[in-house]
Amino acid sequence: MNKKIALTGIKPTGLPHIGNYFGMYIPALELSKEYNTRYFIADYHALNSIKDPQKISELSYEVAATWLACGLDPQESILYKQSAIQGTFELTTFLMAFTSKGLMNRAHSYKAMVQNNIENSKDPDDGVNMGLFTYPVLMAADILQFDSDVVPVGKDQKQHLEMTIDIAQSINHNYKKELLKIPQALIQESTGYVTGLDGRKMSKSYNNTIPLFLPEKKLRKLIMKIVTNSQTLEESKDPDNCSIFSLYKLFANKDQQADLRSKYLAGGMGWGYAKQELFEVMNATLSPIRDEYNRLIENKNYIDQVLKDGAERASEIVSEKMAFIRKEIGLG
Ligand code: TRP
Repeated sequence: MNKKIALTGIKPTGLPHIGNYFGMYIPALELSKEYNTRYFIADYHALNSIKDPQKISELSYEVAATWLACGLDPQESILYKQSAIQGTFELTTFLMAFTSKGLMNRAHSYKAMVQNNIENSKDPDDGVNMGLFTYPVLMAADILQFDSDVVPVGKDQKQHLEMTIDIAQSINHNYKKELLKIPQALIQESTGYVTGLDGRKMSKSYNNTIPLFLPEKKLRKLIMKIVTNSQTLEESKDPDNCSIFSLYKLFANKDQQADLRSKYLAGGMGWGYAKQELFEVMNATLSPIRDEYNRLIENKNYIDQVLKDGAERASEIVSEKMAFIRKEIGLG
């Protein structure tokens, strides 16, 4: 039986935190049980904002090592760098001819930048390059080149998926044929919510994250900084309204959860104790992943090899797709 295809990409912009781990890496990797999976590092998307060659290269290795450390099997799935697949850029050019400028004007991220410029009395397009403006077209090519069935993404990418579908539909309509498979977004909502150090959603923009690969001692220190209320040790505490417990649930098994829950309710447990318990379950889960990450990031030759193999396999599929498209549209 032919498995369906799932694809997702991550833009290399910095080391992941546990919100990314539970919201993105883990659910995306879960799909490999059911789908043929393709994962990539969106380095050309990152180039729109990162112009330092060494930086972008290092950040790309970090994302590759993170995928692998989190359990990506490079034989079973395809892992590659966006920049290595030439056909993606040819497909982008084709998609451009069917993408109205108006559609791009409506992209949330572009609109937010324009709004910000206006508020700061700058030219509306200040700092906007064409890579940023056409970001959704390259993203559509990433997806459509493989006839992807599903694309797991965060809520912030929902509009980009809608644009991909829009562009693909207008192409299919024009050629009266399914030249491109219409993909479906898998929006990570419930799993996407991880509580940060201050009780809000864990996010880089709130500066409340717990980095995934933090060394043990630093991890413990950071957990001790989780904001708590001023209840005394004796008081009974509510596990369902507590950042510590909410994080604990992500890492602890059912028995551990029930046990800590009863300690909360009984009273006589201080926040320091709950934090220590959290540190222990978290560290037990994260230390093997952290070790693997540290091992991989020191083994760039191995990562290069994985990415080269992935690029070869991906290129073959995309070249075939592009040859088909060129023929169908009268360029072949
Ligand atoms: N835009 C995505 C992000 O910023 C990354 C990305 C690029 C992507 N191309 C993609 C995600 C294709 C899914 C499918 O997170």
